[in-house]
Amino acid sequence: MNLIKMARKIKLRDNSKAQTNTASCRYYIRLTSKFSVKLYDQKGERDDIVKKQRMACVHGIAPIALCKVNINGYYGYITEHADTITGLTFEEVDELKIKMRELKLCTGDIGRYWNSGLINNRPVSIDFDSVSVGNTILRNKKKK
Ligand SMILES: Nc1ncnc2c1ncn2[C@@H]1O[C@H](COP(=O)(O)OP(=O)(O)O)[C@@H](O)[C@H]1O
Ligand SMILES: [Mg+2]
Repeated sequence: MNLIKMARKIKLRDNSKAQTNTASCRYYIRLTSKFSVKLYDQKGERDDIVKKQRMACVHGIAPIALCKVNINGYYGYITEHADTITGLTFEEVDELKIKMRELKLCTGDIGRYWNSGLINNRPVSIDFDSVSVGNTILRNKKKK
């Protein structure tokens, strides 16, 4: 079964909410060992996050953001899953922050065990909402 079909079969229950009481991501649901679905309330919010995650992914510091999927009135997308259990070293967090700043993304809310993860031992940022990384890309676009 492909990932989109798997995502469409998701039945949302309160206990499948993202394990954290997080700010913007309403649900984080594993589909396979490698991919998950992230769901948000607002379409614009989701679209903005996907845009930033894809941009950061091209630079090697984010999970792959596959297609967008809407489920039960929530706006979502399929993302590569990162290991958030192992934790980054302090040096890896510093390097990740430097790379993010080069991409004009804020880094105030990233640490060894939050909003970061590892994919094949490569440090990545996992949270691209406007609270965590700002909305710099959109501002740059408007200036043009
Ligand atoms: N790509 C990912 N890989 C692994 N876990 C993730 C990923 N994206 C989100 N999560 C899990 O879902 C939680 C909430 O996601 P996050 O993007 O940080 O949302 P919020 O903006 O609500 O903090 C994370 O703390 C993490 O446990
Ligand atoms: Mg977060």
